[in-house]
Amino acid sequence: MRLTFTSKKTNIKVFIAALALLSTNMIACKSSMEEDLAPSTQQELSVDNQGATVDNSEMATYTSSKVNFVKNSTLKSSFNIPIGIAIVKERLDDPIYGSMVAREFNSLSSESNMKFGNLHPEQDKWTFSKADAIVAFAKKNNMRVHGHTLIWAKDSVQPKWVKNFQGDKKAWDNLLKTHIKTVLAHFKGQIVSWDVINEPVASNGALVDNIWLRKLGEDYIYKAFKYAQEADPSVKLFINDYGQEFGGKKMTTLLGLVTKARAQGIRIDGFGFQAHTVMRIDPAKFYNNFKRTADAGLLVHLSELDISVRYQQGDTFKLTNDIATQQAAAWKGIVKAYLTAVPKAQQFGITTWGASDKDSFFNKGYKNADHDYPLLFDNNYNPKPAYKGMIEAGKGI
Ligand code: XIL
Repeated sequence: MRLTFTSKKTNIKVFIAALALLSTNMIACKSSMEEDLAPSTQQELSVDNQGATVDNSEMATYTSSKVNFVKNSTLKSSFNIPIGIAIVKERLDDPIYGSMVAREFNSLSSESNMKFGNLHPEQDKWTFSKADAIVAFAKKNNMRVHGHTLIWAKDSVQPKWVKNFQGDKKAWDNLLKTHIKTVLAHFKGQIVSWDVINEPVASNGALVDNIWLRKLGEDYIYKAFKYAQEADPSVKLFINDYGQEFGGKKMTTLLGLVTKARAQGIRIDGFGFQAHTVMRIDPAKFYNNFKRTADAGLLVHLSELDISVRYQQGDTFKLTNDIATQQAAAWKGIVKAYLTAVPKAQQFGITTWGASDKDSFFNKGYKNADHDYPLLFDNNYNPKPAYKGMIEAGKGI
């Protein structure tokens, strides 16, 4: 791996600065609310940016290089479980992107093309073509497809027609059922698993307020799983959420939903841990809650992994060698925690939320892709040190 350093003197300064930064981070981390460590949306990320800014203009800047590839290895060849990536149909037209996806991964999630409003933009209108293109790409390249997501428990993401829908409980129930059954029927035999409900539980353990909860009560969750199960009994069904690594009331409620579903004969097969996380997270937090989930007999999907590196940075910054190296260690730590905490039969796979930093959803809405560097590949689709960290975790190095 070729990384450029400016000079030895700068190097020492960088090392000391990095150590100081690391210990400040650790202190800040202890005193901060645990949830601060799990920025799930851009807004939360900018909250994370309230701290002091660091001038790292003199730090050694990470430079991309093709040599970062690990000889004779790819991500998928380094693991014996599915290794996934969230993709966007529009990017498949870029041959560099397409070939990187096919070379490195053997499982696909749809980053947005399968969300409610994208498949079902009006009550009687269905738009499957982009999602179908993802499925066709997967088929061509021998990849598994994981569906994301049937119902997202958040008002802001509901299509306008759903927000404006008028009807009694029965009509809302029918709307939920029609959406789920139509989508599952369309993809029958092609999509092996679905995030049935996305982000249903808040960190205080309460169910997230959203239109489905208001119209159907807690039952919307069980009904969604029931309809999905009826539509295609062979599909694995997940609750996908963020912040489960902090355990607490959120995990208690999530596990409670599984117990209550089982009591009604409704199957919830697994939890997706989104893991939009940060470098300073202690992998033990993940370990404990992966284990708790596995102990409940559930599959565990590390479903949207990416690791933000911009804590206490300005709005834009250059990735440095030190930060890229710390990120690699964090990546390796979380993947190792997953592989050791979850029995093989319950390891559903590890999915990263995109490939290149430039396309990361952490950078969405920012003019340049130098806002954050959460993923395994740099702006030119060359692997970063984090890529090597993940491969090492897979190979048990
Ligand atoms: C994000 C996509 O990455 C963005 O491109 C889109 O604009 C909004 O949604 N948790 C989830 C994902 O479950 O669906 C979100 O994806 C990221 C957070």
